[in-house]
Amino acid sequence: MSELSFGIRDEMGDDGAAVDAVLVRAFGGRGEAELVAALRRERHVAVSLVATVDRAVVAHLLFSRLQIFRPGNVDAGLSLAPLAVDPAFQRRGIGSALVRAGLDRARAVGERIVFVLGDPGYYGRFGFSAEAAMGFECVYACEALQAIVLDGDWPGAAKGKVVYPPPFAALGE
Ligand SMILES: CC(C)(COP(=O)(O)OP(=O)(O)OC[C@H]1O[C@@H](n2cnc3c(N)ncnc32)[C@H](O)[C@@H]1OP(=O)(O)O)[C@@H](O)C(=O)NCCC(=O)NCCS
Repeated sequence: MSELSFGIRDEMGDDGAAVDAVLVRAFGGRGEAELVAALRRERHVAVSLVATVDRAVVAHLLFSRLQIFRPGNVDAGLSLAPLAVDPAFQRRGIGSALVRAGLDRARAVGERIVFVLGDPGYYGRFGFSAEAAMGFECVYACEALQAIVLDGDWPGAAKGKVVYPPPFAALGE
């Protein structure tokens, strides 16, 4: 397959409908599009990136803010979800480029940890691991829950309860 030229940038005000369409096409339903709408509405969004081909939005990546509770302290973290590439543009490196750009951005603004629920065969290549998520309490704890620590080691004693933004609870209902 020939090399595809694409760009990555922050989502802008008038990208909403194009992002929505990519989410529906990639996931085959409205669940993730509704999740993104609710995360926006309730102001949980930390970073929202799009990939473009010939100026058209063909992929989207969102980071929202989550909280890590432990006695007497609350730490901030990020959730990577959803990640969506229009089926017509999948397997061309766009998803990987979006994840790498998103992690670079998170690191640059001092974020310390990112969680993702997804295929370890895919997310492992970016440094996510189930091992890094181990020890955190979370309603979504399972082998698909992975984390990447962006800033040194996350101290074992600080492995508290990871609480995703409320709109995630509606996904899959
Ligand atoms: C999963 C998804 C985001 C990947 O994006 P993409 O642009 O197609 O992926 P890339 O081209 O960056 O893929 C790079 C590699 O990941 C692999 N890969 C792609 N999708 C994969 C998947 N679902 N599971 C495991 N590996 C996958 C590719 O085979 C490729 O491997 P290679 O480099 O060894 O050939 C995209 O396929 C998608 O939007 N799928 C539907 C929605 C979805 O499932 N999102 C993820 C939710 S956690």
